[in-house]
Amino acid sequence: MRGLFITLEGGDGSGKSTQIRNIERFFTEKGLVVLHTREPGGPRISEKLREILLDTENTEMEAVTEMFIYAASRAQHVRETVIPALERGEVVICDRFVDSSIAYQAYGRRLGDMVAEVNRHATGGLSPDLTIWLDIDPETGKARASGDKGPDRLDLEASDFHERVREGYKAISLAEPERFKRIDASGSIEEIKDKIYSCLEELCRERCI
Ligand code: ADP
Ligand code: TYD
Repeated sequence: MRGLFITLEGGDGSGKSTQIRNIERFFTEKGLVVLHTREPGGPRISEKLREILLDTENTEMEAVTEMFIYAASRAQHVRETVIPALERGEVVICDRFVDSSIAYQAYGRRLGDMVAEVNRHATGGLSPDLTIWLDIDPETGKARASGDKGPDRLDLEASDFHERVREGYKAISLAEPERFKRIDASGSIEEIKDKIYSCLEELCRERCI
């Protein structure tokens, strides 16, 4: 049996890490095995690439270089971690996936269609069964996240970059409404959890889980 592949998207501080814990609980209570992973990152090589990508000292990184390193990290992660877990029938929950590259590199960096093309090779065509987009205005997200950890290289971009990222997510939600579900992330943690659970229950009904 093939497992389920669920991804979380949204700007910094939108609540992805918080809600992933709830999603994990939803599936473990159904007796399913869950693998929680993230991008950029996952296996050893992808985590090394993550360090390069997020290092605030790498200010000279070209946009195209950045796009290829995200894609390289993903290519390794998909083949070494995600596909084997799906083949074992597990539920893979991933904090960010290709949609982040569309939002941040295609829209944020204005690299356009090349990003989707490169990522078709990186993923080998693997696409999530469901993506939850936690939509929040960048300023609110930034304020929430500021207490947690230092900003990464992309968090330091100006506000117009983060507005374009949000536009990118909006474009995906219009193009793929079945897979890519927008949830207003300005509410309370409990309110957002309830909305996510409705999406998960619908998915489980469709898949007879
Ligand atoms: P992300 O993983 O998207 O960066 P986090 O889940 O780490 O976001 O949340 C960032 C911060 O905001 C954390 O301190 C978290 O407790 C807080 N937070 C998460 N969701 C909400 C919410 N709905 N309302 C207020 N604060 C929240
Ligand atoms: P991370 O700390 O994992 O996420 P968050 O900001 O939600 O806490 O940082 C990942 C950063 O990398 C984030 O700024 C978004 C960015 N990113 C891309 O630009 N492209 C991608 O393909 C991915 C996966 C992430």
